[in-house]
Amino acid sequence: MSRSLLLRAARSTRLRDAVERVGPTRRLVARYVAGEETHDAVRVASDLVDQGLTVTIDHLGEDTNDKLQAKRVADAYVALLEALDVAGLAASVEVSVKLSAVGQALPAGGEAIALDHARRICAAAREAGTTVTLDMEDHSTTDSTLDILGRLRTDFPETGAVLQAYLRRTEDDCRNLAYAGSRVRLCKGAYDEPRSVAYVSHREVDRAYVRCAKILLAGNGYPMLATHDPRLVEIVGSLAAKYRREQGSYEYQMLYGVRPEEQRRLVRAGERVRVYVPYGEDWYGYLVRRLAERPANLSLFLRSVASK
Ligand code: FDA
Repeated sequence: MSRSLLLRAARSTRLRDAVERVGPTRRLVARYVAGEETHDAVRVASDLVDQGLTVTIDHLGEDTNDKLQAKRVADAYVALLEALDVAGLAASVEVSVKLSAVGQALPAGGEAIALDHARRICAAAREAGTTVTLDMEDHSTTDSTLDILGRLRTDFPETGAVLQAYLRRTEDDCRNLAYAGSRVRLCKGAYDEPRSVAYVSHREVDRAYVRCAKILLAGNGYPMLATHDPRLVEIVGSLAAKYRREQGSYEYQMLYGVRPEEQRRLVRAGERVRVYVPYGEDWYGYLVRRLAERPANLSLFLRSVASK
């Protein structure tokens, strides 16, 4: 099955309903997702922090088309941030938010609704002593997300952004966001984008990633280099040295369940590493995007669905 087909499947509500009806494909879901409840996310984060890692937690869900659901997601983040504070984890654990989960795509006033919810989450994060990073979704939302980021940063300048190297526009966005105090996560990009806006071949995307990493590491912001690609991890290390970045003035980021040994190796080498930990019931879209990155997992997934 092609990457493009899998990524379309990630957005298919019919397929999602069918897979969810047969129940969670537990082994695979558990590899990438902390669990369904707040306490699952806090427990996994605590284990990772004990290993010297830092964490960003994502409450799973996207493309909300219900106003009440958008509010529920924001409430879940506020409850999570309070729990992190109580557990004494806020210094090492932040949260990642998808604006589409808090209402960005709602037809009437979606952007304003998402901004209000994001503000509430940022306020709760500050109260707990931590930060928020806005995930980046498909290219049709990039302008809106960067606009909301700019508004949030007026009151919460610590809010992090995500830029996707596969988009042709991203080098410019990196230049615009490489200023002092600006936290920017650079990833390759996980959506099925048309050639008109995105590089498609692995080679082109990798080259774009290196160009963007150079801009961010040479700039004055705080780069967060999100990749599991061994070649890019190595290149980022040499670029950090070239631009005289001290360890801790940038960080590596990886997903929960992907290359955990490498995460610990980097920590042992003195690097700051943040693990992206998703939790919640709405794991379908996230899981299928991970399968698209690693088609070898697909047969495991299909076998576990078939065995239910
Ligand atoms: P690539 O996909 O080329 O993988 C390189 C190697 O890593 C593989 O050969 C394999 O060894 C290993 N690997 C990668 N994925 C794996 C998997 N699922 N299972 C097992 N091994 C795997 N995207 C986006 O569009 N918006 C966002 O906001 C974010 N946020 C984000 C946060 C963080 C912390 C990370 C690490 C990633 C994201 N992404 C994202 C996803 C990102 O865009 C991209 O899809 C994945 O990171 C995969 O790209 P790599 O750079 O890892 O390279």
